[in-house]
Amino acid sequence: MGETTLRVSKIKDGTVIDHITAGHALDVLKILGVTGCVHGVVTVGINVPSKMLGFKDMVKIEGRELKSEEVDKIALLAPHASINIIRNYKVVDKQLVQLPNVIREAIKCANPACISNSKEPVKSTFYVESKEPLRLRCHYCGYIMENQDIPKQF
Ligand code: CTP
Ligand code: ZN
Repeated sequence: MGETTLRVSKIKDGTVIDHITAGHALDVLKILGVTGCVHGVVTVGINVPSKMLGFKDMVKIEGRELKSEEVDKIALLAPHASINIIRNYKVVDKQLVQLPNVIREAIKCANPACISNSKEPVKSTFYVESKEPLRLRCHYCGYIMENQDIPKQF
């Protein structure tokens, strides 16, 4: 990439979440709890041109490496995202997110009457019926959540 096209600068230490489905950077920030006052520099790119996806979003978080539960939640929003761990300016680990077959506790069921939304101590559980477009089935009530419903359930 030439100097004239550099949009966001490289980071020294932290995590770059790259190839996020365009339009979902803010959902990723919500999952990571980056909503208001945070420490460290966070850089967000929205609708950045991408060879692979046409357009993509990206999030760069300095001084933080993500937990595996956080990576699994990102997979629900951005099935092609890559998680790059940066140490001293170098990419030391690059991982593609992977959607598990069963999703536990990451999101709430969209059916308000579902037992997993009551005060009962049951953990939300969904089965992946389809990966693209993403479709999830609730273990408790059978409700099907479609792709567009999922970001609201975090
Ligand atoms: N990156 C960064 N700071 C660094 C190193 C890398 O912000 N010190 C970013 C790059 O801008 C890129 C991502 O981390 O968005 C992955 O870096 P790299 O593997 O070098 O880029 P690509 O080869 O383009 O990655 P891919 O093949 O995954 O598209
Ligand atoms: Zn349910």
